[in-house]
Amino acid sequence: MTTTAPDVRHVIGRIARGLMGRGGEGVENVIYRLSEQPLKDPDFRLPEAASKPVVKYLDGTLAQLRTMDAEMADGLKVIAPALHWDQSASYTDEILGKGFKDNYAWAELIGPNGFFAGSDYLLGVLLLGPHRHYLDHYHPAPELYWPLTEPSDWKKGDNQPFVTRKQGEVIWHPSLVTHATITHETPLLAVYCWTRNVKVGAKLMAALDSK
Ligand SMILES: [Fe+2]
Repeated sequence: MTTTAPDVRHVIGRIARGLMGRGGEGVENVIYRLSEQPLKDPDFRLPEAASKPVVKYLDGTLAQLRTMDAEMADGLKVIAPALHWDQSASYTDEILGKGFKDNYAWAELIGPNGFFAGSDYLLGVLLLGPHRHYLDHYHPAPELYWPLTEPSDWKKGDNQPFVTRKQGEVIWHPSLVTHATITHETPLLAVYCWTRNVKVGAKLMAALDSK
């Protein structure tokens, strides 16, 4: 079955509703900017579907999401075959640890490789395999993360401790604030959103140190 604009809008709608129901820092920003995005039928296009090794964890993470929002889990399952999974070109196993590239990928719903191009706005899902440390990085875009699985550890700001986050907690990273994520046994599936200034990608502190 081909993925359609209503299929994707349904998932985006579940995300928006879920975030609004939960509230928290950054949610208003994400929702306001979402309301400015062109998401009509003529704006829809199918990305070139692309997979990555980490996608083997998707079904398991969706099973955990089902306990929080079955409709979102089912919606994601419907559009999953059409997703364009990608990685940041500058992220290497050398910097992030052996096997990192086999345990990390993201797919846009809204963005250059998403179902809707968006206007200086990215909305998508991130997968991170078990026992991974996504090292300190930063970017000009303000960013919201919404973990759909648990637990995972998150750090915001230099020299700050990691905090264990539960499924459905909202995490907000203001522009240019350094942040990092650690997974344990459970792979992480999270919604992410860059609300503006999306042209400049993330920079890893470790990559700067090694220069
Ligand atoms: Fe980030």
